[in-house]
Amino acid sequence: MTDAFTFVVFGATGNLARTKLLPAMYHLEEGGHIPEGSAIVAVSRHPWPDMEPKRMIADLLEGRVRGEPDPAAIERLARHVHFFSGDMTRGEDMRRLTDWLATESLPPNVIFYMAIPPDLYIPTANALADAGLNREEGGWRRIVIEKPFGYDLESAIQLDESLHHHFREEQIFRIDHYLGKAMVQNVLVFRFANLMLEPLWNRNYIDHVQITHSETQGIAGRAAFYDGVGALRDMIQSHLLQMMTLVAMEPPCSLEAESLRDEKVKVLKSIRPITRRAVNAHAFRAQYARGQGEHADLKGYLEEDGVAPNSTTETYAALKLYVDNWRWRGVPFYLRTGKRLAANSSMISIRFKHPPQQLFRTTAIEQVEPNWILLGIQPQECLRMELQTKEPGLEFRSHTTRLDAGYCGADFYRLDAYEALLLDVIENDSSLFLRSDEIQWAWRVVDPVLKVWDTEREYIPTYPAGTWGPSQSLRLFDKEDQRWRNSLDEAG
Ligand code: BG6
Repeated sequence: MTDAFTFVVFGATGNLARTKLLPAMYHLEEGGHIPEGSAIVAVSRHPWPDMEPKRMIADLLEGRVRGEPDPAAIERLARHVHFFSGDMTRGEDMRRLTDWLATESLPPNVIFYMAIPPDLYIPTANALADAGLNREEGGWRRIVIEKPFGYDLESAIQLDESLHHHFREEQIFRIDHYLGKAMVQNVLVFRFANLMLEPLWNRNYIDHVQITHSETQGIAGRAAFYDGVGALRDMIQSHLLQMMTLVAMEPPCSLEAESLRDEKVKVLKSIRPITRRAVNAHAFRAQYARGQGEHADLKGYLEEDGVAPNSTTETYAALKLYVDNWRWRGVPFYLRTGKRLAANSSMISIRFKHPPQQLFRTTAIEQVEPNWILLGIQPQECLRMELQTKEPGLEFRSHTTRLDAGYCGADFYRLDAYEALLLDVIENDSSLFLRSDEIQWAWRVVDPVLKVWDTEREYIPTYPAGTWGPSQSLRLFDKEDQRWRNSLDEAG
C-alpha cells in the first residue's frame, strides 16, 4: 500500500467527477486501496452548499456502482472528503488552497485531477505553479489530464510545452480511458502470454485488421465540444489508435512503463504517412441525417441543439492505415467509428488469409471461410476464434465453429476503466498513460487527413441515423472479399 495522499479534483461538480471519478474512488475504498489518512478535496468555482458528504455521496453513487452500495465503505469514503471553493485558474485562489492544505494538515503527496474543460489545462497549471503546488517538497505531486490533448499536432505541442514548463514528464498522467478497459489490457496478455499466436501474428498469415467503435447515441448534448471536432479527432486519434498500437506492437522487453510506451511509439512512427493526394483513398467521413430508431424517429446531426446549421463536422470516420515494418508491411488496418450507428460495439477483428491450397474445391465445400480472431471490448467482453470444421453428416460440408474464452457473455466482475487508472496514478505506474511523444505521433497520423477535410467544407456524405453508415466507406477496402465486420455473432 502506498502512503496516504491528497486527491484534489478540479471541476468536482462536473459530469466526469460525478459519474466516473466518485464511483471509482468508492470502489477503491471498498477494495481497501485508499490508505488511512488520505483526503479527497472537491474543488469547485461555485460556493459549496452546506451538506453532509455521506448523504451526498450515497445519492451520487445510486445506480453507478457494482452491486449494492456498501454503507461502511460510503462512511469511510465520506470521512476523506473536504470541500474547497475557488477558481483553479487564479493564482490567488491557488495560494489560498496551498495555505488551506497546510492548515488542514492534509497529506503532502498530492494528485491534481483536471476534470475541467481542456482550455483550462494551461491556465490551471500556471496557477498551480504560481502557488508553488507543483513543487515536490515534502511529498510527490502528480497531475492528471484527460483527452483531448490539443486539437492538432501544433496545439498538442503547445500544450506539452506549457505543462513541461511547470511539471516533469513523470509527474503528468494523460488518461486515455480505453487503456483502462479490461479487454484492451487483455490484448497484451492474449498476445504475449500465448506462444501459439506469435508465429501467426504477422503479414504472412493476417489478411487485415479492423478496429471498430460504434455508438447508437448521437452527440448527447455535447455540441459545444463536438461540433468542429468530429469523429476522427474524438475517437480515432486517441482510443482507436491506442488499440491499434497494442495489436501491432512488438513484445516489449518488460512491462515497465517506458518499455511498453517505447514499443507503442514505434508502431505510430511506422504508420505510413497519408499524403494529401492519398487522403481520399485512405479516409472517409460522413454525418448522420434524420433516421429511424427502434422506438422513435432520430434527429439528424444538423438538427441537434447547438450544431451550426451548415456544419460539415463528421460523426462517422473510417481510416485505412499501413504499418511499414517487417511484421505488418502490406496488411491494412481499418479503423472505423461513428455516432448514431446501428449498435453499440467496440471490437477488434483480425481476419486471417485463406489457406494456400484449395483442397476442398471438389467437395460440397464451395468456399472455405477465413479464420477470424475477435476481441470484443464492449458491451460484451469476449475473446473468440472462428475456425472451420466439418459439419456432422455424410456430406463434406464445413461450418464455422466458435471457440470462446470462458467468460464470453458472462456477467462477471466488471472493473471500470477509471478504477484501474486511478489506482495506477496512486501507485505511480504510468504504463497505461500516454507519453508526450506518443500523443504527438498519433496526431501526425491524422493531421494530413484533418488538413484536407478542413479545406473541403462544402459537402459531406450523410447516412440515416440508426444504420451502419454509408456504403461508400467500402471504397477503403483493398480487396473485394473484405467488408466491415459489425458484430461478434455475424458470419465471418
Ligand atoms: C470519449 C468520446 O472519449 O469516448 C465520446 O469523447 C465517446 O464521444 C466516448 O462517446 C466513448 O467511450 P466509452 O467508454 O463509452 O466507449
